[in-house]
Amino acid sequence: MMLHIPQILQPDEVREMRGRMDAAPWIDGRATVGAQGAGVKRNRQLDENAQLTQSLADAVLRALARNPTYFSAALPLRTVPPLFNKYASAETYGFHVDGAVRTFAGSPGWLRTDLSATLFLSDPDDYEGGELTVRDTYGEHAVKLPAGDLVLYPASSLHCVTPVTRGERTGCFFWIQSMVRDHGRRQMLFELDQTIQALHAQHGETEHTLALTNHYHNLLREWTEI
Ligand code: NI
Repeated sequence: MMLHIPQILQPDEVREMRGRMDAAPWIDGRATVGAQGAGVKRNRQLDENAQLTQSLADAVLRALARNPTYFSAALPLRTVPPLFNKYASAETYGFHVDGAVRTFAGSPGWLRTDLSATLFLSDPDDYEGGELTVRDTYGEHAVKLPAGDLVLYPASSLHCVTPVTRGERTGCFFWIQSMVRDHGRRQMLFELDQTIQALHAQHGETEHTLALTNHYHNLLREWTEI
């Protein structure tokens, strides 16, 4: 499942973050990539060890924590601290694999990447190209979202960022280990939760919404690995 979650960040938050990033030094994006990705990755990133990066990452994590749709879809157990990248002047990231397991500074061990996330930080009118393109059995899906919006997609899919042919594309990316490893189960839980929320909005709490909510939690209890 690919999911578009609007307005993780509000426009003033995007502006504030972009202002802090624009003044920072950017390094070669190959700093955080394995051998397969290094051959096709041509972009720039903020240094993952810089204090600014950690402060921006914390701001993104706080924004994610207040978004119930994100929680319902990702069921996050552990999250790699978000990183920030920039593409301009025909920079691109060819089709690549996101490593299945990662570690990072301060992490007690390894994290399994179940989900990949991209948070768009540039207005789509500010650049051409730069589509995140995800390949699955249904074909290729090109994604370009308003600044502040996020796309979640299975980390198991091959994906690329097409060359930016005009302007500049700034984004934030990270990986999540989910409490529910199986994509099908996670999707069913998300759809059930969204349906319960809709019924609740329409009818208020009834005997039946209560029973469905109980059912949701019993499935979640059955399927979580924590
Ligand atoms: Ni990737």
